[in-house]
Amino acid sequence: MNTFLFTIQGKPPALAELKALFETYNLKSKILKQRDNLITIQSNAKPEDIIKLCERSSHITDASILIKELKDLKLNTLSKINWSFVQMPFAVRVKDLMQQERFGIERRLAMPIWRHFIANKKNPSVNLDRPKTTVHFIIGEKIFLTRKLWENQSGKYKKREPQKRPAFHPTTLKPKTARLIINLARVKEHELLLDPFCGIGAIPIEADQFGIQVIASDFDKKMLSGAKSNFKFYKKFGNTNFLNSDVKDLDKHLKNKVDAIATDPPYGRSSKVKATSIIKLYKMFLDSSSRVLKKGGHAAFFYPHYVKVNKLVNGKKWQTVAKSEIYAHGGLTRKILVLKLR
Ligand SMILES: C[S@@+](CC[C@H](N)C(=O)[O-])C[C@H]1O[C@@H](n2cnc3c(N)ncnc32)[C@H](O)[C@@H]1O
Repeated sequence: MNTFLFTIQGKPPALAELKALFETYNLKSKILKQRDNLITIQSNAKPEDIIKLCERSSHITDASILIKELKDLKLNTLSKINWSFVQMPFAVRVKDLMQQERFGIERRLAMPIWRHFIANKKNPSVNLDRPKTTVHFIIGEKIFLTRKLWENQSGKYKKREPQKRPAFHPTTLKPKTARLIINLARVKEHELLLDPFCGIGAIPIEADQFGIQVIASDFDKKMLSGAKSNFKFYKKFGNTNFLNSDVKDLDKHLKNKVDAIATDPPYGRSSKVKATSIIKLYKMFLDSSSRVLKKGGHAAFFYPHYVKVNKLVNGKKWQTVAKSEIYAHGGLTRKILVLKLR
């Protein structure tokens, strides 16, 4: 068993996503501690599993593997550590959750590592931009000596920002939000994911990148053609098929075929609704989802805070796996529900 430390952004959906990603890859996980934005998890995962999981995540900032818990940062304590896990060139980084002024601390903490390598007749070298090993000290109530495994690259969504796509619609999701709902649906690479309200394609575009097989469906031909031109723009037709269907008719095409559903249904404000009421639409969506999903498959979806979706969920058919929410804009909170088909 290893202990991993994750820094996350936006606690409720981030924690739900982290749990979902461990489940998706059949990795055991036990949350040891959760404080502020730091989550400590014990798991049978290997470092490479954690890197893969982080690459897919939307809300993880960084991940590290615990080497040792330290009682203090005195030179005497640090000199007793076996630093042979450090590969050259290295860097030392400090995350101080207590936010104290610790001038020159990284340089000071690098000293015992430097000395260890000199004593072992190896040439130490530092590279702050491209280190082979980042020795990561996380200082909170306790002091964790860790090795950093992964760090989020800022600007990774830049190319896929909604304004940069040829087809735009005000209801479209940002790539990060699309990625969150895909991960909550617990879909693996090569499995079949359905977005029954695909609009201009934010969720399929994000899922396609990971080699997930996608069916992007919408009743509105105009929206679907927008999704197609967005896909063309990214030259990513590889894993996605398009379907022009009302949500209620999906089982004509997909009965028991779908591994997971990730979607953003209309909220009854700015996108078209093909149903007699917004409640009827969510009811149709849940009925249809239970027919197209394979047993044990997950449906993860957003809904607006003013639609009482919980009351529509038939507990005999569905197990509620997670509930969360994110604030959108203009007084709108996007609620999130993750259901598993019994
Ligand atoms: C909130 S938008 C989806 C936005 C999408 N996530 C995106 O990024 O563009 C909801 C979509 O549901 C579609 N829709 C509404 N009623 C439908 C129905 N009965 N069956 C299928 N699609 C429907 C609308 O045409 C619209 O494109």
